[in-house]
Amino acid sequence: MTVVELGPERCDALLRFFGDLPEGDLTFIKEEVTDPDTVRSWATGEAAGGRWVAVDTGGDGTDEVTGYVAVRPLPGWSDHVGEVRLVVAPSRRGTGLGRALARQALVGAVSSGLSKLVVEVVAEQGSALALFSDLGFSGEALLRDHIRDRNGELRDLMVLAHHVSDTWAGMDTVGIADELGAPAG
Ligand SMILES: CC(C)(COP(=O)(O)OP(=O)(O)OC[C@H]1O[C@@H](n2cnc3c(N)ncnc32)[C@H](O)[C@@H]1OP(=O)(O)O)[C@@H](O)C(=O)NCCC(=O)NCCS
Repeated sequence: MTVVELGPERCDALLRFFGDLPEGDLTFIKEEVTDPDTVRSWATGEAAGGRWVAVDTGGDGTDEVTGYVAVRPLPGWSDHVGEVRLVVAPSRRGTGLGRALARQALVGAVSSGLSKLVVEVVAEQGSALALFSDLGFSGEALLRDHIRDRNGELRDLMVLAHHVSDTWAGMDTVGIADELGAPAG
């Protein structure tokens, strides 16, 4: 498995990945992920950049996308803030893929000059909370009864945030500062 920036050659595999995801998981991406023109536009035009995929290449040379992460800058006066959207194929969860993708997103976002990242997670979702907390994210808002789950039950949504300058020392502990060529500490 490798994590690579999304390029035109991976768009068909990414469309297959989105097509196979349960509907509830698609809501985390917040974009028209089953529309081929939309997905292809992510790899070329103005919307390109800030998206990575985890890829397995089979014996026959066919690529399979097993995870996706994006960091989308917010508009206007919040354009220093990136929103992270992450999803891993249900069959591959619990193998460290989410962690690897989130880490890549953090490195990419810091490199591109974003100074704050946010991610929305369902309040009780242990794996998402664990992996983002380990990357220096912490709870910044709790929105009660903000979403409906697959059974129509209301659930709380947490907004986790990562302030890049505040957590620079923290990033050093996960080896990211070195990766960016930054001074430690
Ligand atoms: C959240 C998500 C991306 C995690 O992906 P993943 O590949 O399973 O994550 P990892 O395997 O890297 O696991 C991350 C950590 O969570 C832990 N974890 C897994 N399930 C857990 C649970 N139910 N409770 C607590 N911790 C859990 C893992 O043990 C791992 O920690 P470790 O490395 O110390 O063992 C995946 O579940 C997913 O795609 N969910 C739907 C979309 C979503 O919620 N996205 C997040 C907001 S955009």
